[in-house]
Amino acid sequence: MNLRMIENRLASALGPYRLHEVLSHAAARTAYDMISACPRYAPTPLRLLERAAVEAGVGAVWYKDESGRFGIGSFKALGGAYAVARLLQRLVSGEVGREVTITELVRGTLRERAQRITVTCATDGNHGRSVAAAAEVFGCRCTIFLHRDVSDGREAAIRAFGAEIVRVQGNYDDSVRAASLAAEENGWQLVSDTSWPGYEAVPRDVMQGYTVMLIEILEQLAGAEAGRLTHVFVQGGVGGLAAAVTAHLWEEAGGRSPVVTVVEPERADCLFQSALAGRPRPASGDLSTIMAGLSCGEVSTEAWRILSEGARFFATIEDAPAIEAMRLLAHRGAAAESIVAGESATAGLAALREISARPDLRRRLGLDAHSSVLLIGSEGATDPALYRELVGEPALG
Ligand SMILES: Cc1ncc(COP(=O)(O)O)c(C=O)c1O
Repeated sequence: MNLRMIENRLASALGPYRLHEVLSHAAARTAYDMISACPRYAPTPLRLLERAAVEAGVGAVWYKDESGRFGIGSFKALGGAYAVARLLQRLVSGEVGREVTITELVRGTLRERAQRITVTCATDGNHGRSVAAAAEVFGCRCTIFLHRDVSDGREAAIRAFGAEIVRVQGNYDDSVRAASLAAEENGWQLVSDTSWPGYEAVPRDVMQGYTVMLIEILEQLAGAEAGRLTHVFVQGGVGGLAAAVTAHLWEEAGGRSPVVTVVEPERADCLFQSALAGRPRPASGDLSTIMAGLSCGEVSTEAWRILSEGARFFATIEDAPAIEAMRLLAHRGAAAESIVAGESATAGLAALREISARPDLRRRLGLDAHSSVLLIGSEGATDPALYRELVGEPALG
């Protein structure tokens, strides 16, 4: 099936932002202060895709290139790691009866307390890498649950941070349930990037970590020509990334915030199905897709609260256009121009290309020569062997 797209009528009358208990600019600033204090922190580039803009007949296409984030290679480095830091800070502060700092947790005697804590999560690769990296920094123990389809390359990257790995014979949602059960049975701390009724605080922190990317984007756009965004195409797994983008821009611009289109793989369409039903619904397909990070069957309920009102369109695409977009970014003329985009990074570009080629859909979205479009290049070659197979050459840089 080709691209599917539906409109979310609730979002057409977007009023002022009011879901501050889920995500807010104030909490984004707290996350920014903590994350930007890390010695390895650097903002990722916001690149202008000139050829893509000409091809799509729009004014500008901006691509937030997360391939270099913290040496982990995806925006997920901002979320899971931040949630681990916040969790440890909460737990250890509770134990010692005063507010402890991150520096104390990393270096001081309080490190011994962190060492007694085990963090756990399910992942299709990137979130687990972020959680495992933070566990290594703080010296706490870490067990990561992987479903049957997570590649060996991604498993090795997580192991490199010293995490224990548990393989689950099922899909992503099965691994989420297995991690949650193991946390309950063993007294471990669950650091999930997806939320469900009664489990909200940690996933909110995860999403809030992602909003650091939005602070950077708005700074990078300030004063730029075509700097006022009119459209966003953002990929969806459980919806956390899309919710972070939507909420931050909504709080920034209120009713004048950009038109957000959430893009999912054809067979992992839980957000699309939820938009159709007007409430959280599972995916209609078997979750099989090359876009591993988007292979999710159930929405994050906290993300859904934001997207159900704030996202204007929901679309699904097949794998082929996403792979074509990876190749397009890899071969942008001179080698220095080349962008390394992993399989889950290009759904937005792929959808923009398909939608802008269809006059009826262009009109529905209001895409024209004055449009300024944001895409989230959410990962680089997080599985180098697969990248090489799909693009035909190794990732440079
Ligand atoms: C590279 C990449 N992009 C996008 C996503 C989707 O994020 P979310 O599950 O929060 O919707 C993921 C999730 O793992 C990912 O790894």
